Amino acid sequence: MKIYKSKSIGPINIALIKYWGKDDEELITPLNNSISLTLDTNTFYTETKVTIIPLKESKEINNVITLTINEKEYNITQRIKNVFNKFLTLNVPICQELSSKALNIKIESQNTFPIASGCASSASSMAALVLAITSALKLENILSKTELTKLARIGSGSACRSIFGGICEWVTGDNDSSVGVQLYDENYWDLGIKLIIVNQKEKDISSSIGMKITKETSELFKYRIKDIVIKNLENLKISLKEKDFNSLAETIIKDSNNFHACCRDSYPSFNYLNEQSEYIIKAVTLLNKLSERNICAYTFDAGSNAFLVYEMKNKKIIDDFFDKVLGFNDNIKIEELLLKNGENNENNIKEINKLIERRPSKEKIIKEIDFTLGGGTQILYE
Ligand code: PMV
Repeated sequence: MKIYKSKSIGPINIALIKYWGKDDEELITPLNNSISLTLDTNTFYTETKVTIIPLKESKEINNVITLTINEKEYNITQRIKNVFNKFLTLNVPICQELSSKALNIKIESQNTFPIASGCASSASSMAALVLAITSALKLENILSKTELTKLARIGSGSACRSIFGGICEWVTGDNDSSVGVQLYDENYWDLGIKLIIVNQKEKDISSSIGMKITKETSELFKYRIKDIVIKNLENLKISLKEKDFNSLAETIIKDSNNFHACCRDSYPSFNYLNEQSEYIIKAVTLLNKLSERNICAYTFDAGSNAFLVYEMKNKKIIDDFFDKVLGFNDNIKIEELLLKNGENNENNIKEINKLIERRPSKEKIIKEIDFTLGGGTQILYE
C-alpha cells in the first residue's frame, strides 16, 4: 500500500497593514489588501507532518483525519477539512485517484508558541499544512507558490502571506484572483522584529468572529475600508520602495491604531489590547520622540502581544531601551541609552524615568523574542 508523507515548516507573519473583514465568508476573500513581514523560523514556527494512507475505493468521501499539536489530540476543524477537500478536487491525476478512495490522514504538528494569542499561529500552521500536503503528493512542480497561497487562504486568510518569504501582500479578488504576492524577498531590507509577549492565553474573541462584528456594526470600519486602508497601503508601498523607515513606521503605527479603534467602535465593543500593550505603545512613542524621528514601530494583531519593527542598524538602541523600560535588564543605565546619536540629556532621563514609574508589574511582561525577515514555508523532508 502506498503511503504519502512529508513534513514542512511554516513561519509566522506580522501584518503591517491589517486584514480585517471578509468579502466572502466561505471563500475567505478579504475586503482590503494587506501587507506583512514573514519572520524567520529560528524560534517560532509550526512543523507539520502529513501522512496520507489510501484505504479502499469508496463512493462517499469517508476520510478520517486526526490532528495532534505538540502530541495532544485536537478536533479537526472545518477549515482543515476544506483544505483537504480543495486538494482532492484539483485536476491532477493523483488528486483524482485519491478522491475516489477513503483516506486515513494524520496531521502531526509541533508549535513552538502560544496558540490563538495573536501570534499568528494559524497562519504558520496552515501554510505548513498546505506545503506538507503538496510535497506528500509530489505536487511541487505542478502547483506554483501562488497556487499554494490560495490553498493556504482557505485554511486561514493571513496564512497565504506565510508561503512566501520577505514582504508579502494579499490582494482582494475572487476565489481565483485573491492570492498572496511577494513584494520583496527577505534580503531586501535589513529589518528586525521584536515580539514582546505579555499574554500567552487564548484570546476571548477569535479573529473570525471579531472581524464579522466589526464589519456588521462599525461606522469607523466603513471609513477604514473606503479610505484609510487604501491610503495606508499606498503610503506603505512608497516607504518600502524608498526604504524610508521614518514614514514606514508612521504608517505601520497608524494602521495598527486604526484597526484596534475599529474593534473598539464595534457593537458590542471589544478590545485586544491590555495594560501592558498600552505601556509598550507609550514606550515606543517616547523612544521616537526622544530620537527625533521614528526608529521603531509597534503593531498588534488580534491580541495584546506587541510586535516592534526597526532597522537592524538600530538594534542595539532598541534592545537596550526595551530591556531597560520593560524591566528585563535593570543594570542598563538610562544615561547610557544611545538615543539621538548618543546624546542623552537630563530631560530625556526624566521622561524615561517617568515612563518606567508607570510600568505594569514585572510578571505581566513575560518575554521578548527577536526575529529578522525569513524565507517562507519550506519542505523539511519528503
Ligand atoms: O487569518 P486570520 O483569520 O487569523 O486573521 C488575521 C487577522 C490579523 O492578524 C489581525 C491581521 C492580519 O492581517 O494578519
